[in-house]
Amino acid sequence: MSAAIETFTRRESEIRSYCRSFPIVFERAQGAELIAADGRRYIDFLAGCSTLNYGHNDADMKLALVDYILRDGVAHGLDMYTEAKARFLTAFEDIILTPRSMDYRLQFTGPTGANAVEAALKLARKVTGRHQVVAFTNGFHGVTLGALACTGNGYHRGGAGLPLEGVTRMPYDGYLADGATGTGLEMLAQMLDDPSSGLEPPAAFIVETVQGEGGLNVASAEWMRGLEQLARKHGSLLIVDDIQAGCGRTGSFFSFEEMGISPDIVTLAKSLSGMGLPFAMVMLKPEHDIWQPAEHNGTFRGNNHAFVTARVALEKFWKDDAFANQVFAKGEHLGKRLAEIAGKHGCGTKGRGMFRGIEVRDGETASAICAACFERGLVIETSGAHDEVVKVLAPLTIKTEQLDAGLDILAEAFAETHRSAAAA
Ligand SMILES: Cc1ncc(COP(=O)(O)O)c(C=O)c1O
Repeated sequence: MSAAIETFTRRESEIRSYCRSFPIVFERAQGAELIAADGRRYIDFLAGCSTLNYGHNDADMKLALVDYILRDGVAHGLDMYTEAKARFLTAFEDIILTPRSMDYRLQFTGPTGANAVEAALKLARKVTGRHQVVAFTNGFHGVTLGALACTGNGYHRGGAGLPLEGVTRMPYDGYLADGATGTGLEMLAQMLDDPSSGLEPPAAFIVETVQGEGGLNVASAEWMRGLEQLARKHGSLLIVDDIQAGCGRTGSFFSFEEMGISPDIVTLAKSLSGMGLPFAMVMLKPEHDIWQPAEHNGTFRGNNHAFVTARVALEKFWKDDAFANQVFAKGEHLGKRLAEIAGKHGCGTKGRGMFRGIEVRDGETASAICAACFERGLVIETSGAHDEVVKVLAPLTIKTEQLDAGLDILAEAFAETHRSAAAA
């Protein structure tokens, strides 16, 4: 064990997680590659859990940030007006909102995804005067108490230490077994129409279009539209949590763009800063902006360094459709290659866009595959209720040759793991 790893093991809390799968000290990172202190290079199919959709240390974001720091740009500014924030807001309006005919107010929350989810839930409850929220099976929305109440994962819920209240869980699209009557929405619709079902119209429905942590389950456009109709009918708000699926992961900037829906609230974080800097935002329809000044407060609401890099990301990647088209095409390629690997081992694929993976028979096998990948120079993780999905979260900017090199490693790891299982 290296001296550095001994220090981590001795001093850092047992809460450590990702580093247990990748017990090595990383020193540098560039594009889709992580470089360890001993010089070993790893292809990164985890991308900071989708915080690095544009890869590590993008040259333009890095230069803009260094320049901003060297000019003594305001580093921390509470939520005061700064030049960096003004330029981000203008870019978001011009590049994202206006071309999509979207009208949203933007609220900067604390810098994590969970911070944005907490604000969204609080606002939906305040707007509707209701307290119950409907969340879905296998949904993941963060681990602070309000967000955790919406999260399905039993392991994380178990850490709460007190009852998680104010949320009713319903089946996500495709959750019910084939052949069961209804998709889940019919049942929900019936329960909402029935004054004696025990389910009152909620303040909001909170939903991911693709469940990142929950195992890459995909909601259809039809299901999402049905959910929006239920929200409209019952005076509830529709919150789309686009923290992991957004910022281009499925192809378009928002994961719901092709679905014909207009959420009341959208949460964004992870890749929003473009460079992995902590930064989260809630998009809310103007008519719902009933916050009183400082009512949902916090010291770190907006991150000026992230405003700089986030603006560059928008200007560099989203001024036209070229990047989205490349991501769609790369996603198709990824889908085909994953299907080939999965087909050889009797597994299935899940997800859409550059948000895909392979479902294997259990979590043990999936984690053995990820460990075999790591030995061969690929960083990759699992998701799903039983950690049974090997999930590819490569940077969207990854070159096709590098994507293929990573997928070759994945194919070898699958073959080796299945050989070892057959021999055992
Ligand atoms: C969809 C979704 N929402 C919220 C969160 C919570 O974000 P954070 O870990 O930054 O609090 C996550 C994290 O994985 C997520 O995937």
